[in-house]
Amino acid sequence: MMKVGILTSGGDCQALNATMRGLAKTLYRQSKDIEIIGFLKGYKGLMLGQYKKMKEEDFEDILNLGGTILGTSRCPFKKMRVIEDGFDKVEAMKKTYNKLKLDCLVVLGGNGSLKSANMLAQEGLNVIGLPKTIDNDTWGTDYTFGFQSAVNVASQYLDEIQTTAESHDRIFVVEIMGHRVGHICLASGLASGADVILLPEIPYDIKGIVKAIKERQKKGQNYAVIACAEGAISKEDSLLTKKKYKAKVASRNGMSVAYEVAKELEGYFDNEIRVSLAGHVQRGGQPSSYDRLMATRFGIEGARLVLNQDFGKLVVLDKTEVKAIPLAQSAGKLKYVDPEGEVVTGAKLMGVSFG
Ligand code: F6P
Repeated sequence: MMKVGILTSGGDCQALNATMRGLAKTLYRQSKDIEIIGFLKGYKGLMLGQYKKMKEEDFEDILNLGGTILGTSRCPFKKMRVIEDGFDKVEAMKKTYNKLKLDCLVVLGGNGSLKSANMLAQEGLNVIGLPKTIDNDTWGTDYTFGFQSAVNVASQYLDEIQTTAESHDRIFVVEIMGHRVGHICLASGLASGADVILLPEIPYDIKGIVKAIKERQKKGQNYAVIACAEGAISKEDSLLTKKKYKAKVASRNGMSVAYEVAKELEGYFDNEIRVSLAGHVQRGGQPSSYDRLMATRFGIEGARLVLNQDFGKLVVLDKTEVKAIPLAQSAGKLKYVDPEGEVVTGAKLMGVSFG
């Protein structure tokens, strides 16, 4: 009998269920003696011993179901080793794993969750990671499931803002998810023809944004859509120390950078300037067909690793091939947008402004 624990951790995304389905269906089909334990609400379930003994039918009819049938929670990596109210989280997780006599644990997670997965592997548990996040910023993989579905939602949001911006001669600053990397904002901005795209990786100059919009106005286009990543940052702010920048963000009283961009633009235009937040719908609803496909492929590869007892690995997409790399190789590193890469430099050639 092989006992496999599984959990979904961190922010949810559209293809979590599809990935678990790919993994589970393959495991049930390829082994006669498998038991899957689903931990509830991510690492919390592992810490508190809250789980469900899964049945084969639990993984049926979930291919296009958003969210996660196991639930999720955020358990920040930096707090994993912090003992709180006498509770040792790492020890608690190991205790549950050993008590249940698990053969391995499969973690569907983004960067923080995969760092924790790597930590558990270093603690001696048999762990396999599956790359989840709408942000597509996990180092070592060309794709993380959830990304394309989120880009679809963000693109549709930008498309819809475009028509109302035009009707009202407004300038819209649309905030797109991505607090440390700008992959969703870049992809959706380009896919929807945003005039300006602001990314964490390319600090903006407000004058650059003004210039781009004025150029449009000269051509008779008296409206504009700015796709602004949650983590977009001005050139001045990018020079601040981490501490000073944190203090500045705190002084915004919960207002995000999109509001700051809108405020800064006010003096330059007669147009009304509005902010619109695409928000959590980017993580919601059904996965796109591409995500269902990738989730299925990632899940199957995860099952292969389980069956081959090839632990301490992260399933990745390497160009067109799904394979596995050591978890430790990826943990703690982010995959950023390359400001000098083909996508950004190409977009600039056709007149997209990055501020
Ligand atoms: O990591 C996924 C993500 O959606 C980021 O793009 C975003 O910055 C963050 O999660 C939002 O987190 P929460 O749902 O906890 O507010």
